[in-house]
Amino acid sequence: MKLFTLLPFLLPTSIVAKTILGVDLGSLYMKVALVQRNSPLEIVTNLHAKRKTEQMVLFDAGTRFYGADANSLIGRKPHLTPQAMSVLLGRHADHPSVQVLAERHFPITPSYNETRSGVCLTVDGKEFTPEELVAMVLTHARDITNAFGVQGEVRDCVLTVPSFYTQHERRALLDAAYLANLNVLALIDENTAAGLHYGIDRIEDEPQNIMFYNMGASALQVSVMQFYSYDRKESKFAKARKVGAFQVLGKAWDASVGGMAFDARIVDFMADEFNEIWNKKRNDGETKDVRNYPRPMAKLRIQANKVKHVLSANNDVPIFIDALYDDTNYQSHMTRATFEEICHDLLERSTEPITKALKAANLTLSDINGVELIGGGMRVPKIQESIQHTLGDSLELGLHINSDESMALGAAFHGANVSTAFKVRHVGMTDINPFPITVSLSELDGEAKEGEDAWSKHATIFKANGKVGVKKTIAFTHSKDIDCSVDYDESEYIPEGTESSIEKYSVSGIAEFAKEMEEKGLAAPKVSLQFELSTSGIVKLVKAEAAVEEIYTVTEEVEVDDEDATEEEGKAEEATETKEETPEAEDAASKDAESSEEKKDDTATAEKEEEKPKKKTISVEKEKKKVHKRKMTVKSYHVGSIRPYSEEIMAESKAKLDELARIDKERMMLEEIRNTYESYIYLIKNKLSDFEDEIAAISTEEQREALLKSASEAEDWMYDEGYDADLETYKTKYEELSAPAEKVFFRMTEVSAREEAVQELSKKLDKVEALMEKWVTSMPQVTEEERGEVIAKVNEIRAWITEKTEAQAAADPSTDPVFTSAEVPLQTVDLQKIVGKLSKKPKPAPKKEEEKKNETETESEEKKEDSTESSDDKKSEDSDEAKKEEEESKEEEKEGDEL
Ligand SMILES: *[C@@H]1O[C@H](CO)[C@@H](O)[C@H](O)[C@H]1NC(C)=O
Ligand SMILES: *[C@@H]1O[C@H](CO)[C@@H](O)[C@H](O)[C@H]1NC(C)=O
Ligand SMILES: *[C@@H]1O[C@H](CO)[C@@H](O)[C@H](O)[C@H]1NC(C)=O
Ligand SMILES: *[C@@H]1O[C@H](CO)[C@@H](O)[C@H](O)[C@H]1NC(C)=O
Repeated sequence: MKLFTLLPFLLPTSIVAKTILGVDLGSLYMKVALVQRNSPLEIVTNLHAKRKTEQMVLFDAGTRFYGADANSLIGRKPHLTPQAMSVLLGRHADHPSVQVLAERHFPITPSYNETRSGVCLTVDGKEFTPEELVAMVLTHARDITNAFGVQGEVRDCVLTVPSFYTQHERRALLDAAYLANLNVLALIDENTAAGLHYGIDRIEDEPQNIMFYNMGASALQVSVMQFYSYDRKESKFAKARKVGAFQVLGKAWDASVGGMAFDARIVDFMADEFNEIWNKKRNDGETKDVRNYPRPMAKLRIQANKVKHVLSANNDVPIFIDALYDDTNYQSHMTRATFEEICHDLLERSTEPITKALKAANLTLSDINGVELIGGGMRVPKIQESIQHTLGDSLELGLHINSDESMALGAAFHGANVSTAFKVRHVGMTDINPFPITVSLSELDGEAKEGEDAWSKHATIFKANGKVGVKKTIAFTHSKDIDCSVDYDESEYIPEGTESSIEKYSVSGIAEFAKEMEEKGLAAPKVSLQFELSTSGIVKLVKAEAAVEEIYTVTEEVEVDDEDATEEEGKAEEATETKEETPEAEDAASKDAESSEEKKDDTATAEKEEEKPKKKTISVEKEKKKVHKRKMTVKSYHVGSIRPYSEEIMAESKAKLDELARIDKERMMLEEIRNTYESYIYLIKNKLSDFEDEIAAISTEEQREALLKSASEAEDWMYDEGYDADLETYKTKYEELSAPAEKVFFRMTEVSAREEAVQELSKKLDKVEALMEKWVTSMPQVTEEERGEVIAKVNEIRAWITEKTEAQAAADPSTDPVFTSAEVPLQTVDLQKIVGKLSKKPKPAPKKEEEKKNETETESEEKKEDSTESSDDKKSEDSDEAKKEEEESKEEEKEGDEL
């Protein structure tokens, strides 16, 4: 592990993951924190530059809108805007937290789907699983991260979950993340993540017990954590350094007290008041309830939240909603006293988890050194008052960490710690699982024989408030295949409505193995099942093995000292030990030492001491041990009404989301082409007036009129049929509109462009001619004939220019031009090649050397000089004239290239 944290410094940065997200999904707002190389831990701001994003998706005409875009329309389209979808993950329709949503007048009611083994939401006639909806929000988290400036694919993340999230809820969230193509490095409890953020910089000399009180939108969670420090060595040879660490001691919660619950009370109060006003105003004898109408209710929810916020700083707030429903205004006001009265039971419940968390941590109030308040619900003054009252005056309510963002930031930090791509400050973290988990075993075809009970075993494998990130093994002697069931044990802490069956496994291969062993005359196998409770709080059967020990004796000739002989034999017998074989749960560490291969142990050791003179050879009975070990076949399955995604449903969901993504993309392309089309209409109109004279010069009256007409027709079309035309239609219409206009605009720009190009070409040709003049003396190796060829080519091009310009002058300017500016520079392609080639023609060797030596000698001498790199000698030999010549020819080469 430690080796790997060093790796990134050895690897090129491009091949290691460079970004990790910490996503705090919340239940109403999502917060996203980001870790990237060479940047501090930071919050990702969304497309509206906000630090939190509404957890909602608006489905409008088949396409989706997120966050604030969805929120701005929720008042008008509440039935198309599911929100707080994370609350539905892994839960049944009658789960109290799900029921609460209906009580809070969320217009889309979840319903149980048998095929899916979970609840679904129907939006605009289409059914969605909470996993799909949460996947959309998580995908949006990736999109805003890219828009925030992070390049490349964002995949690695840590997601926060409430303390009370069960296996089903955690797994459903993992399925959602999988659908969003995210790689979840870990799940972390919301409060634990906040504790981590609080602890990053802390190194406490004395252990400090801190209580985290977290009132979120949908739930209240309280955790007690101990912060401490210890000496730690980075590596074997490093000096020990003091580092900070923390451990969660106890957790408690109330899953239905939160900001939304307070809002709902205000909503109900306002709805009652409005009903009274409205029923009186209509005076038609009917008693109607505004609660039956999603739009005014959505407006009331928004208003209620505002009222609550204003009341945290004021004693009285006026309320006015213009035409709330049926042309009836709602005008009222609310005092803080009224608010506290209608929420009195919620306020009472808001301190209960404090006591429960202390109990879970086995601490009393006097053991607590500090309290940190987090979560949005904290702003209600009465809650702070109640907490203070419960805790007593000696504890100050701390607000040392960002109450909204510490969870996302802590999650991101945890991700960096888990990932091998980052090296972060060491902060020790130990979390606990609040729910006891049991394992029950029975025989696969377990029918009780006459007069016998069916074989079964039952054990609590992970006890309540035990540490996470551990492995436990159950070992027992058995010779039949078994069925293993992992369940929640009954406990006061298990949330109501929790599906108690977590996962089931059929473990086969035991019977076959037992039979083989029996045939060898050996005992029944010892079966060991290893379970893991991961740091993400997910329990799994990770290893299933069976083993049988075989003890056999061999006779060996051994040389021993005379008097020791008998003692050796005695020792050999003692060394064979038998282990008790009853079901037991023990820490994996002790078990892991076993190797998985069959191994032979010499239990008797025979020493040879050849130096000693008095020796004799005897026969010794030696006991040897052999362990037959085999991996068992495990098949996992789920029962109960709430199950994780099956492979089929996963594939179905993936396809559904891909199709929605395609439609969204098409919508964006349609929007783009609409804008382009609209701009082109104005472009035609503007050009016709801005360049009146220029256009008149190259077009006929009819052409101009046709253009103008096409533009106004296009405009009419856009606001009529074009309103809901598709992408293909727009593409065709754009082509129809732009093609004739482009022709005219092209002719207009060509008038001057052509002239410029011709001038440029003439200049080039002049230059070539001048160069040829110069070459007469500077490039004697170029023959007169060769230069003649160049000049001929120049003349040919001049003739082309004359011919074309005359033809153009004679042509009708309102038709396609005779030649275009783009053709003009192409005329020199051949010429350029010829000049380029000639400019590289080697100059003749200097004369004086020619006199002295013949060619082969010169060549060989040059080669020799090159190879020995004695260029100094050569330079001194060369005459100044030769050097100059060389430079000149280089210059000419350059000129030739420039053409
Ligand atoms: C239940 O879910 C399945 C799988 O997603 C879906 O095919 C089916 O239409 C749903 N059933 C109902 C009654 O909506
Ligand atoms: C709780 O704490 C007390 C006092 O520190 C201790 O004696 C007791 O064993 C603890 N109980 C549990 C269940 O840890
Ligand atoms: C970071 O990783 C180390 C080593 O695995 C572990 O001991 C520590 O608890 C982790 N801390 C956090 C905050 O994840
Ligand atoms: C060059 O000189 C060498 C030796 O002086 C001679 O062998 C050779 O034939 C000469 N080559 C020519 C082309 O004159």
